Amino acid sequence: MTLEAQSAAIAAQFDYTDDQVNNAVNEFRRQMTEGLEKDGTSLSQIPTYVTGVPNGTEKGLYMAVDLGGTNFRVCSIQLNGDTTFNLTFTKVAIPRKLMVAKTAQELFAFLAKQIELFLQKHHEDHFEQHVRRRMTMSSPDGYKDEHVFRLGFTFSFPVQQVGINKGTLIRWTKGFDIPDAVGKDVCALLQDEIDKLHLPVKVAALVNDTVGTLMARSYSSPGKTGTVLGAIFGTGTNGAYVEKLSNLKKPLSGEYDKTTGEMVINTEWGSFDNQLSVLPNTAWDVALDKASPNPGIQMYEKRVSGMFLGEILRLVIIDLLKDPKVSFFKDENSSSNDWKSTTNIASDSSIYTQWGLDTAIMSVAAADNTPELSTLRGELEKQLGIYSAGLDDAQAFKAIANAIGRRSARLSAVAIAAIVLQTGKLTHPANADEPIDIGVDGSLVEHYPYFRDMIYEALRAIDGIGEEGAKRIRIGIAKDGSGVGAALIALVAAGMEKRLTTADYLGELRSNAKSNNLTVVPEDDAAQD
Ligand code: GLC
Repeated sequence: MTLEAQSAAIAAQFDYTDDQVNNAVNEFRRQMTEGLEKDGTSLSQIPTYVTGVPNGTEKGLYMAVDLGGTNFRVCSIQLNGDTTFNLTFTKVAIPRKLMVAKTAQELFAFLAKQIELFLQKHHEDHFEQHVRRRMTMSSPDGYKDEHVFRLGFTFSFPVQQVGINKGTLIRWTKGFDIPDAVGKDVCALLQDEIDKLHLPVKVAALVNDTVGTLMARSYSSPGKTGTVLGAIFGTGTNGAYVEKLSNLKKPLSGEYDKTTGEMVINTEWGSFDNQLSVLPNTAWDVALDKASPNPGIQMYEKRVSGMFLGEILRLVIIDLLKDPKVSFFKDENSSSNDWKSTTNIASDSSIYTQWGLDTAIMSVAAADNTPELSTLRGELEKQLGIYSAGLDDAQAFKAIANAIGRRSARLSAVAIAAIVLQTGKLTHPANADEPIDIGVDGSLVEHYPYFRDMIYEALRAIDGIGEEGAKRIRIGIAKDGSGVGAALIALVAAGMEKRLTTADYLGELRSNAKSNNLTVVPEDDAAQD
């Protein structure tokens, strides 16, 4: 069999037809409802205790930290109250050994240390003043609370939330594995380490990155109907949306504002259909799952998100390299190579190790439309030590990579469509000309060429959405979602702390917004500096 025919046959295994997409949307909706009714379901549907989305007039200085992928980010955010903000941040890679540390304390001590370094660097005055105050204080808790930064903690793993700044870790995802942390309150873990360093910081809100994305998008692009969904298509994938309280049937333990009639739900859709009733399942999906730290879990995420796409491709490539019937990345001699010299793969190429193929190269493959695929061939050399790949090799690589990327986008459309349909906004006469706003973030939607186009293509084929519906769905990037969103939730939490009930607080937010259309929280309450 020729390489071209063989790669086309493999690519076809990643097809996900319109019928399959439609079938999956129905199943997604069924699993959404199930998750709203009871605990322990495939789609967790976690209540977040966040009962409204912002309108762009919120103001104040807040801190946010973000743990959820390869980097830890610390930021301070000045919300300007006019839909704009200023954000300062530092980013540090999380050492691999801390992702699988023996104790949670090791990881959280590292995080607190980064907060200290950030404060010293970017808020030196505030930090020094605080240290001075502490040293001159007769009673250690005598200093005033308003000198303390309110911090929103974006923690992008499944958490059973029991209040706005309290929640226990259900399970790790995305390659993290510290069993000691499971079942513990992650806010308390962080606060303990912050307190050990005597930092002027209070963990005020616990936020999933998808919830942050939803909040940030609502703040930056307020419309009549607000943003309905915040979604991440990055290292992992997940979505948070606004659900009617009346649909949320499972019991809630914490306090929350009932007046809005809504609550943001963190779907944890990475675990949609762990039972594989509608998800595609090639031999390579099976192999990836088997070798992962959490077999049988996050089955949707393992077919959609950036952490896994490269690994699926790597597994296909390894199989093709072993296939005696095709000649892939091996020509007999330089005369059969159209480009440079005889193809060879470095013996220490990362293609031979698990996670060794970075998904970013799939973006290069999708973007390279030159006749010789020279950019892709250059990257194969640079990133994977595959020297002098032939044009046919690069074409095969591209065809398979594109098929995996396309399947990911079509599966992404399933979740988006199910949630849009669930909100009923497409058919509601009151918002007939309003766009259905969706905020997204993550490396796949940002960097993978045509990812959004492929999502739209699938959306058009979905019953109940179609051409017209797809036109109204506005999928926009929510930049810095996790930072700004966490700050916004810390703001709501700060209001709750002032012993206003949330209802009073939101009432105050609204009437202030109406009366002067600018300051929603009195400046001295909001700004902590
Ligand atoms: C994983 C996490 C989820 C997060 C998503 C995107 O699916 O479990 O909480 O939102 O990754 O970062």
